[in-house]
Amino acid sequence: MTRATDVLARLAVMRQGDVPVHGGRTLAYVYDSGLAEVDQVGRDAVAAFAGSNGLDPTAFPSLLQMENDLVAFAARLLDAPDTVVGSVTSGGTESVLLAVQTARDAHPEITLSRRGATMVIPSSAHSAFHKAAHYFGVRAVVVPCGPDLRADPAAMAAAIDDTTVLVVASAPSYAHGVVDPVTEIAAAAAARGVRCHVDACIGGWVLPYAARLGRAVPPWTFAVDGVTSVSVDLHKYGYAPKGSSLLLHRTPALRKPQFFASAAWPGYTMLNSTMQSTRSGGPTAGAWAVVQTLGDEGYEKLALEVFEATERIAGGIAGIDGLHLLATPDSTLVALTTDDTCDPFTVCDEMGTRDWYVQPQLSYQGLPANLHLSVSAATLPHVDEFLEALADSVRAARAAGPVQVDPGVAAYVAALDPASISDDDFDGLLVAAGLVGGDAVEGGGLALPTRMAEVNALLDVASPPLREAVMVAFLDRLSRPTAN
Ligand SMILES: Cc1ncc(COP(=O)(O)O)c(C=O)c1O
Repeated sequence: MTRATDVLARLAVMRQGDVPVHGGRTLAYVYDSGLAEVDQVGRDAVAAFAGSNGLDPTAFPSLLQMENDLVAFAARLLDAPDTVVGSVTSGGTESVLLAVQTARDAHPEITLSRRGATMVIPSSAHSAFHKAAHYFGVRAVVVPCGPDLRADPAAMAAAIDDTTVLVVASAPSYAHGVVDPVTEIAAAAAARGVRCHVDACIGGWVLPYAARLGRAVPPWTFAVDGVTSVSVDLHKYGYAPKGSSLLLHRTPALRKPQFFASAAWPGYTMLNSTMQSTRSGGPTAGAWAVVQTLGDEGYEKLALEVFEATERIAGGIAGIDGLHLLATPDSTLVALTTDDTCDPFTVCDEMGTRDWYVQPQLSYQGLPANLHLSVSAATLPHVDEFLEALADSVRAARAAGPVQVDPGVAAYVAALDPASISDDDFDGLLVAAGLVGGDAVEGGGLALPTRMAEVNALLDVASPPLREAVMVAFLDRLSRPTAN
């Protein structure tokens, strides 16, 4: 074996420990069209442009062309006016970060004022906005959602004040899969002269096709007055390889603060449209190739399939004793929970043993712990199998009984203040949680538990700041170099 084939063989072995990216059985993190030709063209394009650099459009005009083509395609999809402009970013988080940074830097007088800049976000907004708050010093004013889990437009409007640089809505929210009332929220923002960003990272490429197919989709695109920017990910329901998203602004003037130039050094004048400087051409080319291959017709067909799958899954869940939906899906995301005869975390583990990956979501502000599904077109042929596995998993979880956290441990955890815990305490906590040691599986230097129900149950009784601190401590211990 040559060295290169040996290396590739080793990669293939390592990948066996990952959740599959194809087959429609992984219902978070990956989005599978189920079309081998589409995957192949995306991968070939990534490989062909992996060494190209989007840093300089004059040196790599091909990447500029692809970016402009992608933005033009998205503009049509999102009912954008002729003035719209956009950028390819590395993912939803980068698109969100840039939307916030741009809004902040459009108002230096607010940013530099004593009170500082704020953004009004619904409690269902993606955590990328909290990351943006953390990075850019824009305080998030978090407004609780209504009982239907959608943003409350009256409360959002009331939260806007002289410090607000951005108002946010989701189409749909990741956690519950519902579309916020964008018309009212954008109108409230516009009335105060404030930007309104619609985070359609996960739904932006599939909802327009749903609307074209005649499904009822609440208004959320640039067709809504007052919407100033939209983020939409190509690497989700654009079914493109990982590493591409778009951020669109209604006008060039709105985008301007997003750009960064620096001539304040002796090298090349740095000119960036995104947070990256050197930017691999791979993801842009991969997304371009997939979008060109599928075209509107291909996406329409995939939308038909994914919505049929979502509806059958949602209907099937309603028919399984012990389960119910948190909300009727507006898009292709499903949030389901259990009654008190079992718990979602055990159901999640049981699904794992049946080769289905579903994602646990911890309880939050009165909402119960639940399971998230991002349904893919490739899941459609397997829906019956999925529902059987789910019904079996519920039966198994009921037989096991709800996962218990020792009341003493729960009380101890609930009282912990993450700010005052030492590294040694964290080590103890990670062992107690089963996140390291015990029956953990060793592989490539990682130590991951085989079953997560007990870990999730323990995290579930912890406060959100403690959850964050424990997870950071966990990641810190996972991310250590291994001997070769
Ligand atoms: C609504 C929404 N916004 C932002 C993001 C962040 O995207 P990424 O994980 O690509 O950074 C996601 C991811 O699921 C999302 O659903």
